[in-house]
Amino acid sequence: MHFDKLNYSFANETTDIELSAMPENAHSVFCIAGSGSRFTPLLSKNPVRMDVVDSSVAQLYIAELRYRAIKQLDFESYLKLLGYKTTTAHQRLNIFLSLDLKEDLKIFWLEKNTNWQKKGFIFIGSWEKKLQWLRRVFFLFHFKKLGSTFNSKSPKNFPMRAWNLFCRFILNESLVRKLLYSDQSKYNLPLPFSEFVNQQFKRQILKAPLDRNFFLQFLFCGNLLSPDSWPIEADSNIFEQAKKSTTQVTFVLKNLNEIKDFGYDFYSLSDCFSYLSDDDSQNFLNKIKASGVKVNGVIRYFMYHPDIDFSHFQYSENDYSNQEYVPIYKIIHFST
Ligand SMILES: C[S@@+](CC[C@H](N)C(=O)[O-])C[C@H]1O[C@@H](n2cnc3c(N)ncnc32)[C@H](O)[C@@H]1O
Repeated sequence: MHFDKLNYSFANETTDIELSAMPENAHSVFCIAGSGSRFTPLLSKNPVRMDVVDSSVAQLYIAELRYRAIKQLDFESYLKLLGYKTTTAHQRLNIFLSLDLKEDLKIFWLEKNTNWQKKGFIFIGSWEKKLQWLRRVFFLFHFKKLGSTFNSKSPKNFPMRAWNLFCRFILNESLVRKLLYSDQSKYNLPLPFSEFVNQQFKRQILKAPLDRNFFLQFLFCGNLLSPDSWPIEADSNIFEQAKKSTTQVTFVLKNLNEIKDFGYDFYSLSDCFSYLSDDDSQNFLNKIKASGVKVNGVIRYFMYHPDIDFSHFQYSENDYSNQEYVPIYKIIHFST
């Protein structure tokens, strides 16, 4: 099953958007775990409590590890553990061993999945590994090192012709669904898939500054070229505020369909609606509304845009063009 394994290990969403949408005085936050890099920056606003929810045990393990690392490590060791800063596998293991962790969390990362020791946690999700596979295939279309393109603000050296051909011949719907989503995702937009991806990326690639774009650097260069491009989970101020937070964090193994309590005032739902039926997504939204709580939330869509009715919310989409670094998402902010 796609969501049973460790799929996501890196910030593949621009969490700045959730952080700015979340009110300063949020009390109860509902956040899909994913890699954990979306919920930890939200701690910097110190909500009273936060439920970090996922249907995958492995995703909850990486999310909880990030949380414990923030609470227990200094910034430098945290960056080394995650892989933003390089270090030896031996030192990374020692940093991990210095953490006080629950037994099952420790056993998971010391016995079941040890891939993180070499380069750090951000590189080990199967989604991230498959992006690297795509990068190598793309290289066969241009044979250029792209470091200088992404170290500069301007996209002028990006091999756009090669990208057009790559989209046309490689990035078709069936390959992307199989490779990145084990056939769990759907596509329902009116234009051919490769054209859709091509357009989305072009928009982002042509939009300087590339030297700050963590996602495009990860995808096209296989690494993050300088601290200027790091996502906000690797920002020292956010880290220090999250460390100081007194938020009561609970990790919850549940499917969205099983959620019964809707007393939250902020929801960060990632792109989960893409994987639910439209009826289940609508149901979830209706229950949020029926809670009567004044609410805010952010949801993203990629390949599948569900046909659901947000009319009982205030609703805005895609006015994040200056903030968004990941070209694949349509972003929706809803509130009452
Ligand atoms: C939809 S994925 C997208 C990944 C995301 N871009 C990130 O950075 O984490 C986010 C997470 O949602 C979880 N997920 C997907 N459908 C779910 C559902 N119905 N209930 C609970 N969690 C779900 C997956 O296990 C995954 O960890």
